[in-house]
Amino acid sequence: MLLLAVDQRFQGMGLGTMLLNEFADQHREGPVTQLHLEVRDGNPAVAMYERFGFRAVGRRKDYYRGHDGIRHDAVTMIRDL
Ligand SMILES: CC(C)(COP(=O)(O)OP(=O)(O)OC[C@H]1O[C@@H](n2cnc3c(N)ncnc32)[C@H](O)[C@@H]1OP(=O)(O)O)[C@@H](O)C(=O)NCCC(=O)NCCS
Repeated sequence: MLLLAVDQRFQGMGLGTMLLNEFADQHREGPVTQLHLEVRDGNPAVAMYERFGFRAVGRRKDYYRGHDGIRHDAVTMIRDL
């Protein structure tokens, strides 16, 4: 998976969590033992990932540059399957 996104009109209805559950279920029986992701620091999606069991394990300083030119760290997160 490269990017998790839900159309703005349908956000906050549980679809993002459903997609995460589906993705984890699809890989539970295979050789994959951990899920890794990276998200911009401050993205509200961090709360969703934490609730889903991801924990922050690293930080890439100034990894993202916003449209306004401001740089943001990337947070790397892991969840065991
Ligand atoms: C992140 C994203 C996929 C979540 O999808 P969603 O369908 O809204 O997620 P859910 O309805 O399952 O929300 C689960 C929790 O995530 C958090 N959350 C996710 N997006 C949020 C937002 N925009 N504002 C506030 N909280 C948000 C909340 O804690 C929410 O729980 P709550 O509704 O009980 O407060 C969606 O907001 C999105 O497409 N964002 C833009 C793209 C993006 O940033 N993707 C992540 C890149 S790593």
